[in-house]
Amino acid sequence: MRVASFGMLSTVVLVASFAHAADVKEKAAICAGCHGENGISQTENIPSLAGQPNQFLQWQLVFFRAGARKNEQMSPIAADLSNDDIRNLAIYFASLPPPPAIPSDDNPALSEAGTKIAAQTHCTSCHTDNFAGAKAVARIAHQREEYLLKALTDYKTSVRSGGGQAVMADVAYPLTEDQIKALAHYLAHFK
Ligand code: HEC
Ligand code: HEC
Repeated sequence: MRVASFGMLSTVVLVASFAHAADVKEKAAICAGCHGENGISQTENIPSLAGQPNQFLQWQLVFFRAGARKNEQMSPIAADLSNDDIRNLAIYFASLPPPPAIPSDDNPALSEAGTKIAAQTHCTSCHTDNFAGAKAVARIAHQREEYLLKALTDYKTSVRSGGGQAVMADVAYPLTEDQIKALAHYLAHFK
């Protein structure tokens, strides 16, 4: 008797987790329309999500939903997400392989300049040595170059304040446009 009811319970749990996986896949298909197949963006000014830290993804979705971070395309999408959606989508995108390295660098001198600025400004102290990010800190290695440029400019000009006591606003404020360009190029082509 006990064995039989235990068997039934585990069947119910199994069915529920399948339904849940299907639900995430369905939601993630909406995201793919902009963020690309497998979370690798092919579209200007839309970031790749694959391999971003789970916590970073959750916070950004919460910021969009709450209106603390605003974007014409992304805000309406986030407005419709439940807490469970946010948790499940973050787990899903964090589990995908991150964007691959770009095989060739069309401007090694700019990367070289970016390397120096990144060292001077201690980007790795938060973003980790390979810029993979951790917890609420973004992965920035191999992100789209023009999106990195936009993100740093948004912090510099207070369009985006970000979490973590708005550390990125403090980091980006003193950077010049040329320094931001070099950093974006270096990080997009990071080796
Ligand atoms: C209509 C296009 C569109 C769709 C659909 C869309 N997004 Fe976005 N998303 C954007 C844009 C554009 C940005 C960049 C916003 C900015 O520049 O601040 C963004 C940013 C994000 C970010 C912040 C990433 C970062 O690196 O800062 C997350 C997380 C995100 N989207 C998750 C999702 C999820 C999850 C879905 C599906 C439920 C989704 N998006 C669907 C357009 C879209
Ligand atoms: C004190 C810790 C800290 C330092 C130092 C730091 N960052 Fe960040 N960075 C963060 C955090 C936290 C976030 C997420 C902020 C948010 O919620 O928007 C972030 C986000 C970013 C983003 C946005 C990524 C995305 O996908 O939206 C970029 C780009 C970035 N950092 C670049 C840099 C660069 C370049 C440097 C060095 C010049 C740097 N960071 C130094 C903590 C730091």
